[in-house]
Amino acid sequence: MVLRKGPLETYEAYHFWADRFREDFVKSRQSWAELYAFEVDRAKDAPVFRQIYLQLRSAILSGALRPGTKLPSTRDLAAQLDVSRSAVVSAFEQLLAEGYASGKKGAGTYIASDLPEPFGAIHGRKKRPVSAAKAAASSRELGGFVDVTTQSDECPFNLGRTLVDARTAELWRKLSARSLRSFGRHHLGYGHPHGMLELRKSVCDYLQAARAVRCEPEQVVITSGTQQALDIVIRVMQGPDKEVWIEDPGYSLTHLALVAAGAKVCPIPVDQYGVNVTEGIRRAPKARAVFITPSHQFPKGVALSMARRLELLAWARESGAWIVEDDYASEFRYGGQPLASLQGLDEAERVIYIGTLNKALFPGLRMGYAVVPPSLVRAFITARYLMDRQPSSLCQAVVAAFMEEGHFAAHIRRMREMYRNQRDALVAALRRRLGDHLTVDPPDQGMHLVAYTRSGLSDVTVERAGREHGVIVRAMSRLYVEAPAQSALMLGFSGYPRQIIAPAIARLAQAFER
Ligand SMILES: Cc1ncc(COP(=O)(O)O)c(C=O)c1O
Repeated sequence: MVLRKGPLETYEAYHFWADRFREDFVKSRQSWAELYAFEVDRAKDAPVFRQIYLQLRSAILSGALRPGTKLPSTRDLAAQLDVSRSAVVSAFEQLLAEGYASGKKGAGTYIASDLPEPFGAIHGRKKRPVSAAKAAASSRELGGFVDVTTQSDECPFNLGRTLVDARTAELWRKLSARSLRSFGRHHLGYGHPHGMLELRKSVCDYLQAARAVRCEPEQVVITSGTQQALDIVIRVMQGPDKEVWIEDPGYSLTHLALVAAGAKVCPIPVDQYGVNVTEGIRRAPKARAVFITPSHQFPKGVALSMARRLELLAWARESGAWIVEDDYASEFRYGGQPLASLQGLDEAERVIYIGTLNKALFPGLRMGYAVVPPSLVRAFITARYLMDRQPSSLCQAVVAAFMEEGHFAAHIRRMREMYRNQRDALVAALRRRLGDHLTVDPPDQGMHLVAYTRSGLSDVTVERAGREHGVIVRAMSRLYVEAPAQSALMLGFSGYPRQIIAPAIARLAQAFER
């Protein structure tokens, strides 16, 4: 497939990957029957060939072995079960005669794609669905999972989607192939939970240059992304009866992770200068930790002012609290003076800095990092080891090469330009079609914008109507815990090519008219 240049290049790269994946998926079906646990019991009255036939038929009808699956050769299956080959041949012949299998001499036997009986026929009973209430009871507060997987060009503007252009896609393929060619011992065994040294060095160089983070490679721990880093922090910090501050409104996955871990969550209101530190100190002066997004508050997009940064750091130094800085999407700055990281201002080593490559590159990568104060490094690595041992060695090698060879910086530059254009197209379309209903300003940073509703219109109502018109706009009011909720829509712009923006906003306008 040729990757066309121009505005569609990202789009095509995306579909190219999806097609490859589908082909590989179909091929992989062919071998599962080799792992099926067939058994023969010679003490039974039923002849051996019939026992094999019945097991295969039941595996087919229950769906354990799917249409298109290649069956093992009669020779291999006979050897596996320690029976005569003729018994296996008879079983296969019966399946062929009844239409459960198909095949040509020499080409193997496959489970038929057109079965004589439908799937599930053997277990006539229907599975009883577990009620949502019961399921939630066993996992406590975890019923709040927010579906971000509904991300498509057909139904934009869900949050968190990124684009990868043809250049990055091509480089990624090359570097992956190179990493696989050198497939050596260091890829095969257990690696260090800390992460690969080359990658930690690159992350360190990048953070010092771009975010003024003060770090050494020993302080960098490679994670699968922000979510894992948060989970590790929560484990490392847990202590009985300790309160933690969260932003109100804030990132729901931080909130949920804390609630699920049994933390005492103290929501602190956010205004135009970021989280209200004075109010936090008044409400929970002895809090163990503060979870914040200072460079681009999620969801509102404001930056924590310098005065509040200094107030927060001074309080953390005196009280011994930890500040957990989630610096998501800081790579995508479109204008204005960026404030350097909070970690870079910290003289007392109270800040745990968390960054993600799942936004800078793509969410399916599942890779990120934490920069941990020296006193916490051992505890952090141990918690990571107990949770998940180590990051994938092959993936780390690809990302390390991508960063070391300068492709990461170039990718960020190109994507920043592309996302800026998409942001501008979205703002223009919203103002043109929905200016009477929404107030929207282009954000200086990030991957989403916030459009405030006018004249008391409920964001939840618009969210619902939008879905019916094939547009996902998330209601910001859902992210408030205690503070009086503001009604606004959050629209991701990073993942949606320019050409689909205006038609989608026209559909959203229809939802408003209704
Ligand atoms: C506030 C915030 N932090 C971090 C992330 C990235 O999370 P992860 O690296 O787990 O994909 C997101 C993604 O939506 C986010 O909204």
